[in-house]
Amino acid sequence: MLHLQNLRARFKELDQGHVFRFWDLLGEVEQEALLSQLKRIDLPALMTALAAMRAREASAPARLSPAPIERMPLAGGNSSRWQAARQRGEQLLSEGRVAVVVVAGGQATRLGYPGPKGLFPIGPISERSLFELQAQKLRRLAARYGRPLPWYVMTSPSTDAPTRAFFKQRNGFGLDAADIFFFEQAMLPSFDFEGRLMLATPGSLSESPDGHGGCLTALLASGALDDMEARGVTTLFYYQVDNPLVRMADPAYLGFHAEASAEMSCKVVRKAEPAEKLGTVARIDDSLGVVEYTELDDADRFETDGDGELVYWAGSTAIHLFETAFIRRVAAEADRWLPFHASAKKIPTIDDEGRPVTPEAPNGHKLERFVFDALPAAERTAVVETARAVEFSPVKNAHGSDSPQTARRDLVTSFRTWLEESGIPVPPDVRIEFDQSRVDGPDDVRALGIRDLSDAADWIRIEPENSGATP
Ligand code: UD1
Repeated sequence: MLHLQNLRARFKELDQGHVFRFWDLLGEVEQEALLSQLKRIDLPALMTALAAMRAREASAPARLSPAPIERMPLAGGNSSRWQAARQRGEQLLSEGRVAVVVVAGGQATRLGYPGPKGLFPIGPISERSLFELQAQKLRRLAARYGRPLPWYVMTSPSTDAPTRAFFKQRNGFGLDAADIFFFEQAMLPSFDFEGRLMLATPGSLSESPDGHGGCLTALLASGALDDMEARGVTTLFYYQVDNPLVRMADPAYLGFHAEASAEMSCKVVRKAEPAEKLGTVARIDDSLGVVEYTELDDADRFETDGDGELVYWAGSTAIHLFETAFIRRVAAEADRWLPFHASAKKIPTIDDEGRPVTPEAPNGHKLERFVFDALPAAERTAVVETARAVEFSPVKNAHGSDSPQTARRDLVTSFRTWLEESGIPVPPDVRIEFDQSRVDGPDDVRALGIRDLSDAADWIRIEPENSGATP
């Protein structure tokens, strides 16, 4: 009882006493559930972080300047540097120093898919899921470098059970269960526009996942970092579940990161247009950072140089590299390095009588941490350019740009390129899909020494454009 009184007093003191307004109407089980939810919230720390967020929003906008970027050879970068970087990265891979982490806790709201996004069927012919395509690439890397890459899968309370069940049902897609580590991100409560905690039901607060920045704190809290370090992993390759083209643990990227003794790195693509919904990688005041598309000033967004080229062309693919020691440092000081960002959303809640309300317009803020906010904490960083066609085609929307249709199209185009670069003719108007656990990239195609498609029936599927399955 004392506990309850203390908790009530603490919430009241910080103007959040209303969370107890239906207390007397709740049954014992509901009261217990509410208490345990409230106990998990460090309210003073949360209120301080919210105040810091408001102060930051009200402060003068940051000064941007272009970041130094390792240009790809196609864009004028030095090929022999890339060659050396690749070798260095391959060395790290064969020493077992690399692991991968995927953030898969998002709710796929824009895509309108009912389950976790990683389960979404994306294979152009096989309809393999996003997770399975990624697992295939990990199998290929393990075979190529003789070391398994442990895979850390971040889920959230809504994606955790279905994600684990899916992996189990598919036998981990052929990976050893000992090399797959699930961990759950934390939740943050939502606030109405007056700064009051929102109730989802009379006996529970409304909460949402704490953003992909929560990955860094959850890696520490779940023991995943300890697990990595026990395996001798020093560098973590980070990517978002929504990108089927991702080049897992790309050796050249790893090599540039190592050469710069970087603690955190970014991979960028040229924006398709100034208003594309990508974060912009740039120097912000004195350190490297990412400015979200919603926060970029139009003056910066549209600025061009003497050749008419965009000054801030570098769009973030959200593919990062982290040193494990750096993650430990940032996670231990999360409130310093990973501030909250608030976005206005329609948040289901209850009215004064406790009846459910489904809002038609945004009625409150969800809070998130962004992983790229860790960049200023890094003493050294590297930014590496890549070609969009090679490794970036995210599945975000149900239709139009960044949709399943564009991702499947880009997968087919990249498979076609691997074949054509190896001198293998491919008929027009076909869908192509590789078994990437066996062939992952043009080097593998060449190494197999095949001359035409009939030699390759085991690991490539080809079908006329408009036969059966998914468009
Ligand atoms: C994100 C980046 C943007 C980048 C773009 C590249 C932000 C704010 N912006 O945009 O800079 O250029 O990707 O595609 O992130 N996730 C979680 N837990 C969460 C929230 C998200 O795991 O609490 C995961 C999602 O499952 C997804 C990824 O993070 O894999 C990205 O989230 P999303 O909301 O789709 O980001 P975008 O706005 O598309």
